[in-house]
Amino acid sequence: MANRRPKISVIGAGFVGSTCAHWAASKELGDVVLIDINGDAAKGKALDLFEASPVEGFDSNVVGGSDYALTKDSDVVVITAGLPRKPGMSRDDLLATNAKIVKECAQNVAKFSPNCVLIVVSNPLDAMCHVAMDATGFPRERVLGMAGVLDSARFRSFIAMECNVSVEDVQAFVFGGHGDTMVPMPRYVSVGGVPLTQMLPKERIDAIVDRTRKGGAEIVELLKTGSAYYAPAASAVQMVEAIVRDKKRILPCAVNLKGEYGVTGLFVGVLAKLGAKGLEGVPTLEMNAEEKDMFGKSAAAVKGLVDDMKRLGLS
Ligand code: LAC
Repeated sequence: MANRRPKISVIGAGFVGSTCAHWAASKELGDVVLIDINGDAAKGKALDLFEASPVEGFDSNVVGGSDYALTKDSDVVVITAGLPRKPGMSRDDLLATNAKIVKECAQNVAKFSPNCVLIVVSNPLDAMCHVAMDATGFPRERVLGMAGVLDSARFRSFIAMECNVSVEDVQAFVFGGHGDTMVPMPRYVSVGGVPLTQMLPKERIDAIVDRTRKGGAEIVELLKTGSAYYAPAASAVQMVEAIVRDKKRILPCAVNLKGEYGVTGLFVGVLAKLGAKGLEGVPTLEMNAEEKDMFGKSAAAVKGLVDDMKRLGLS
């Protein structure tokens, strides 16, 4: 990274995008650019956020608009553009519309920041990662999908509520695609060092796993006009932080697998090591037969979407 603050661009100034900008700026992760087809909205939100900085005491320049030239030489770019879900819709219902949007955004991003690390947030997440990778031609180290941190945050929240402990003491992760087939991994959950399987009976764990799988839909049903944004934005910003601060964090992300877990050429959620180069490793863990089966089904669901996109001429 150059001898300047890291530059973080967020594409899409809707609820997720503007909340990403908010957290990235307030954590002083770098200077922030907010891009939207509605340039004035992006400009206005960016200016409003910058005007909060004297009060909150953060030094991050924040600018916005519709011109991708503003994003030139970004270190990290987060793509949030696309339509959100409405009640009754699955993430997959967004496929055709969001594929076109994400393709155009990713092409523009690559034009101005050919060396950036790209974090995709738009849904259906795993399929949109494929669109972004195809559109940019970036190597897998620099195209990551944000879903695992969010799904794991929901899993951790529900475990903390059930066990009446601090969320900070719950370590947990979710594998697989960001959809109904996601694979929460209760065998690997630690509550302050104690395995979850020793703390809760199976039926309580099963209920938490089920609520986690439907966590996004639970929020959509309540909001009625869109989908979640605080937790998705916080999750994307945690990935940004791991990269711009070269933290080498191990976080669950959608990664284009190259043989890990027996999968090749598909984006599926797994544990990933994130640092300045983007993806710096895929630490693999052992799965039992049941976990392998669920992971395989989840990968197959992602493949189904990728095949649909090919059939529809979207990628
Ligand atoms: C969710 C959407 C953003 O899980 O996919 O809330």
